[in-house]
Amino acid sequence: MIHTNIDINRIGHLTFGGADCVTLAEKYGTPLYLLDEERLRKNCRDYRESVKRYFGAGSLPLYASKALCCKEIYRVINDEGLGADIVSGGELYTALCAGFPAENIYFHGNNKTCDEILYALDKGIGCFIVDNHDELEFLNAECVKRGTKQKVLLRVSPGIDPHTHRAVVTGNVDSKFGVPIETGQAFGFVKRALECEGIKVDGLHCHIGSQIFDKYPFTDAAKIMLAFAAKIKKELGAEFGTVNLGGGIGVRYVETDPKTSIDVIMKGIKEELDKLVAEAGIRPPVFLFEMGRFVVADAGMTLYTVGSVKRINGYKDYVCVDGGMTDNPRYALYGSKYTVFNATHADGEYSQTADVAGRNCESDDVIGEAMSVQRFERGDILAVAVTGAYNYSMASNYNRVPRPAMVSVKNGEDKLIIKRETYEDMARNEL
Ligand code: LLP
Repeated sequence: MIHTNIDINRIGHLTFGGADCVTLAEKYGTPLYLLDEERLRKNCRDYRESVKRYFGAGSLPLYASKALCCKEIYRVINDEGLGADIVSGGELYTALCAGFPAENIYFHGNNKTCDEILYALDKGIGCFIVDNHDELEFLNAECVKRGTKQKVLLRVSPGIDPHTHRAVVTGNVDSKFGVPIETGQAFGFVKRALECEGIKVDGLHCHIGSQIFDKYPFTDAAKIMLAFAAKIKKELGAEFGTVNLGGGIGVRYVETDPKTSIDVIMKGIKEELDKLVAEAGIRPPVFLFEMGRFVVADAGMTLYTVGSVKRINGYKDYVCVDGGMTDNPRYALYGSKYTVFNATHADGEYSQTADVAGRNCESDDVIGEAMSVQRFERGDILAVAVTGAYNYSMASNYNRVPRPAMVSVKNGEDKLIIKRETYEDMARNEL
């Protein structure tokens, strides 16, 4: 099985986190998101322990909540000792509702609204990741007015594209996120921030991308960041306490994806960083990370009911399910690959090639094209693995389809953590 929390039971049903998927589908209806709490906690622990082992107890591992934002997630990650990266007032609100400590919240985003900034200041969040000059000036003026000094990291872009060969460091200088180092603009940004009375510059931040399976994109970025820190020290006499290298560690969606261990990647990063810090001649900063996908992806699964199985003679087969791009837009957006199972007949042969299509009025509404699948018939439960990240958080009501419920499973026990949306929920704000 692609991940160890997926198995087949005595009656041939798929299990996830020890729970029978067919039983859950009958109990809660479909489409249904599942969350394996044990796996989520294990991912948190693996992340926390490797960060502690290589970067010290002062490095708080952050969870990028855009991957999956709901109250239950904040409760678990707080319980497991992670901080949270949020990108909106909505994520902040949800975290606070779940009792998440404001001081462990890091506020990202390239265009935070004035209202969001004021809300976060009112709530006393730990750190702003300031993206640009306009935000810096607004935040500073507000802190001066309040007589406070806000801890910030400054988002700069090192110009690394993690998906090109590592020698080709050209990508993303023109990104909408942060201020580029290469054009010289990041220097002016830091200089101004250091002058701001209401701002305490704790360090620098960058995020280079997602689905990264080795240390080099991180260490290539760090090399540029640390050389920049050395320039700031030399020319402005300032040293940074923190360098946040962002998120991005990859997960296995299909068998051909590499097997990763966060410990191996973190160890590799740490070894390179020690050399880079020494070369830069700066005081070693605390390194922070903010993983999203790694924490939640394989802790999630989606269950659907197959409604029709269709053959276009001479062309292809379709297996049609009762969800699709409304609960998982990732194939439509990025052509992302997934692994699917017939949860009702989980030991069936992979004897068919089919497109798994959604129910929405859009040709690109598919979970995958030309997928190797088991035989399906109407009424079977189809499970899509590794849907914990960027599925619920990117779901929509296109075609007025209600968002699915989410059920957490632990030691074979199930618990509803997000109710299924109703038609009334969707029409609630309409006058
Ligand atoms: N930090 C920052 C500043 C980010 O922008 C992101 C992701 C992360 C951390 C977490 O990255 P992760 O560890 O999850 O790779 N919707 C896309 C992914 C968008 C990621 C955006 N930023 C997808 O479904 O693949």
